[in-house]
Amino acid sequence: MKIIHSSEQLQKQLSELRKIGTIGFVPTMGALHKGHLTLVEKAVNENDTVVVSIFVNPTQFNDKEDLLRYPRNLKQDTEILKLSGCHVVFAPLVDEIYPEPDKRIFDFDDLDKVLEGKFRPGHFNGVAQVVSRLFDIVWPDSAYFGLKDFQQLAIIKLMVSKLNYNIEIIPCPTIREESGLAMSSRNLLLSDEERKNAAIIYETLTQATELAASHSVFDIKKWIGDRINNNPFLDVEYVELVDETSLKPVECFNHSGRVVCCVAVWCGKIRLIDNVYFS
Ligand code: PAJ
Repeated sequence: MKIIHSSEQLQKQLSELRKIGTIGFVPTMGALHKGHLTLVEKAVNENDTVVVSIFVNPTQFNDKEDLLRYPRNLKQDTEILKLSGCHVVFAPLVDEIYPEPDKRIFDFDDLDKVLEGKFRPGHFNGVAQVVSRLFDIVWPDSAYFGLKDFQQLAIIKLMVSKLNYNIEIIPCPTIREESGLAMSSRNLLLSDEERKNAAIIYETLTQATELAASHSVFDIKKWIGDRINNNPFLDVEYVELVDETSLKPVECFNHSGRVVCCVAVWCGKIRLIDNVYFS
């Protein structure tokens, strides 16, 4: 496994590998856990060469403190990746990705005006900036994204179609801790007690899916919000039931498309997100 820090070197390396097979790409911000590794495993199974990027992208953090405390573990990450079948780790410095400030503003047809976009202004523009830069450097055949970041996946798919990238976007299921808590690099920042209590989030969402047949969308949202807020460690930022594709709020469960429930919850100073399909 090669660890490369410069775009030029990476492109040189990939120009040879591209001639002999497909390139699968897994963009990450590091502090790798099993969720990331399932993306890498899938990419390894489906491609001849796999590139994993590790880059904590400053332009997608709307909260400076969040950026400062984001866990960074490059040495440990590369050790884990050595065992995963990954061929190339791309770990650039900020100047390599942004030699000049990125002023591009993307149009996401309002997909960024709801859910995370509403509470983290500019976040998805930053995600699109970095992912498009990485795509331009790596030029993969396919790129792997987790359903854990459901809205991010929808926005990346739209970006790929709008910018005509010839890259297949592969969605991957959310990997959870034994307690049900969705794995996240930010879980490292929770105390043991917070982590234990954060499991209530997924427990509540799965229980709510069973209530859907006999309750209204309004009641379900209220039930989820109240149940999570009843836990002294947790504070709900939003609960929303949306259409899988438009991300627009749904009003009833006999909606024609698939319905996803998305939540953001503060656990102490750490903001957690999760989602489950209702239909
Ligand atoms: P990061 O949070 O490191 O996540 C990298 C990829 O791993 C994303 O596609 C994310 O959805 C996926 N992932 C994270 N936790 C997961 C879990 N529990 N189960 C399955 N997949 C999971 O998302 C980002 O980084 C950044 O926004 C990035 C796309 C790299 C752009 O900077």
